[in-house]
Amino acid sequence: MSDVPAGAPMNAVSGASNAVPGPSNAAGHVPVMLDQVRALLAPALDSADAVLVDATLGRAGHAAALLADHPGLRLIGIDADQVALDESARLLGPAMERVALVRAAYDQITAVLAELGRPSVQAVLFDLGVSSPQLDDPARGFSYARDAPLDMRMDRGRALTAAEVVNTYPAARLARVLSEYGEERFARRIADAVVRERAREPLTSTLRLAEIIKNSIPAPARRSGGNPAKRTFQALRIEVNDELGTLQRAMPAALDAIAVGGRIVVLAYHSLEDRIVKRALGSRSADTTPLGLPVQLAASRPQFRLLTSSARRPAEQEIAANPRAASARLRAAERVRAAA
Ligand SMILES: C[S@@+](CC[C@H](N)C(=O)[O-])C[C@H]1O[C@@H](n2cnc3c(N)ncnc32)[C@H](O)[C@@H]1O
Repeated sequence: MSDVPAGAPMNAVSGASNAVPGPSNAAGHVPVMLDQVRALLAPALDSADAVLVDATLGRAGHAAALLADHPGLRLIGIDADQVALDESARLLGPAMERVALVRAAYDQITAVLAELGRPSVQAVLFDLGVSSPQLDDPARGFSYARDAPLDMRMDRGRALTAAEVVNTYPAARLARVLSEYGEERFARRIADAVVRERAREPLTSTLRLAEIIKNSIPAPARRSGGNPAKRTFQALRIEVNDELGTLQRAMPAALDAIAVGGRIVVLAYHSLEDRIVKRALGSRSADTTPLGLPVQLAASRPQFRLLTSSARRPAEQEIAANPRAASARLRAAERVRAAA
């Protein structure tokens, strides 16, 4: 991708109008906590030449609304999934003249921005996890409710699939994945059942795996807490996509990229992700002057100010209209000082 001089349109592909479609179900994905994302990012996006990185573009639901709110705003949209980028280009229509789309993992944000010639930006948005179209596309293998090959890769160029994990990991390693990433109480029982079943025949389908999980959980535990396959599928998805490692690397890189006065908003969907976000924002928002020093060291002053003292949750009405928002946790911060 070529450098983008400040003020120039990015990736111009279509007409000159700034009109953008509003967020809608037509895109197959309803953007979560959209009003809060808009309000939290607005103060950073009105400056001339403002650039927003949407590090998880998806179907551009949040991005379309922010481009509509801020007519001068330019967007760098990152997604690991080429289908998401292609669909976003279509949905954004004429607004694409203010947009650069990049297929990359979001922990590559520093390299992506360097290549575009914009090492610092006014805002970064992360809306983590899987989009509704990815969940609903049976071919992707994310859903335990539809039969599909055990895939679960966000980036289909990567080698590791869910089938590889369930058919090759030793029982102890598989149990650790299910326990740590799925917080699954019956991780060892499920792992043992998977190992027994795969000795008969390799596991290739989501529904077969869901059945094995159901049968290895004690009957009383099956009656509460939703589908018993939910936690195992979450764990496999995290493992296949190295979601936690990628987020650990991405958070400091994203924070480094934000200019003074710029803002970051992160939507996480489970406690493991949220913990990483909370720590990353918290550590940059704390004074690190060693205890006992009589004066505050300039270099130790916080670089960020938390805009959310604790994670914000969606309103009941939003959850009723969009049950996939139910587990969302939103955190945000503003850069108040440049790096020393
Ligand atoms: C919840 S969706 C984002 C939805 C978007 N905010 C919208 O309103 O349409 C998350 C997106 O992040 C992408 N994604 C997940 N992990 C990624 C990674 N490590 N790097 C880049 N994109 C990733 C997924 O492919 C998916 O499209």
